Amino acid sequence: MADITVIGSNMIDLTTYIDRMPVEGETIEAPRFEMGFGGKGANQAMAAARLGSDVNFITMVGHDEFGKNQLENYQNSGIRTDGIGVGTQNSGVAPIFVDPTSDNRILIIKGANKELTPEVLDHKVDQIKGSKLIVLQQEIALETNYHAIELGEKYGVPVLLNPAPANEHLNIDYVSRTAFFTPNETELATLTGMPTDTLDGIKAAAHKLIDMGVGNLIITLGSKGALWVDKDHEQIVPGMKVKAVDTTGAGDSFIGSFAHYYTEGEDVATALQHANQYAAMTVTRRGTQKSYPTAEELPAMLAEYGK
Ligand code: ATP
Ligand code: RIB
Repeated sequence: MADITVIGSNMIDLTTYIDRMPVEGETIEAPRFEMGFGGKGANQAMAAARLGSDVNFITMVGHDEFGKNQLENYQNSGIRTDGIGVGTQNSGVAPIFVDPTSDNRILIIKGANKELTPEVLDHKVDQIKGSKLIVLQQEIALETNYHAIELGEKYGVPVLLNPAPANEHLNIDYVSRTAFFTPNETELATLTGMPTDTLDGIKAAAHKLIDMGVGNLIITLGSKGALWVDKDHEQIVPGMKVKAVDTTGAGDSFIGSFAHYYTEGEDVATALQHANQYAAMTVTRRGTQKSYPTAEELPAMLAEYGK
């Protein structure tokens, strides 16, 4: 049985590195383009697998070449593919623009990811129920995630919900039934309607969710690391100082690596510290999944930063 079941999206990332965004009606040259494997679900599954977790990925790929490439990518990385279906639509794709400060703007066209319905999960129950953790994001229908949370409860598997991208319609009742809820600052603001531009604001918004019953709230803070809040305590887990070239998929690498370290038996604080380190390494390289180090590569990369 897999350690981690990731239920979610896959995309082909079409990344253009830009000097600046063109204004309306303008055509400008961009220095570089790269294509790679992405999608928040797939990225999280890949980070955990590259670190050595046994990962089961439940997703829907498109009925096109991209879909075949995706399947091969997971097989080559040792991710279990029995949970992967082929949809009737094209594969999901994500045009991404990365600027010289390493920040990104992303469009997603969901394609076959829309076909990952609650009914599909009912056919995958045997693959889900023995896992140590179910990991969810929000590039598939909210109803599918709600059903995954119900299945987690039914079979005693804790759920981590990463509410990315933000969706103001997310039902807080389901959020309160998760073991880990992991918004970034923007997603936290969308969900609580509270300002999150200061640490005090973030903490106040976090306690609003804790009061509603969320178990462990982990807020990612970009280069500043992460804030972990539960009903008894607050803890900042500081980020690492690195030279970032492309932050696309940093959040996913953080979640996937956290899932790996936590299901390996680390306590939450230690797993968060290791997830911060892993995510920091990914921003030093271009691309999404292609920037994720393997367990073998990681020590040498960290050593360059004195870790
Ligand atoms: P994205 O949408 O770009 O994938 P996100 O907004 O979901 O990311 P962030 O809070 O930006 O998530 O980043 C997630 C984690 O990645 C952080 O908690 C941190 O560990 C690491 N990280 C992100 N950016 C940097 C950076 N510039 N330097 C070091 N670590 C970083
Ligand atoms: O979080 C990064 C991911 O968001 C990219 O891989 C892109 O596919 C979008 O899903």
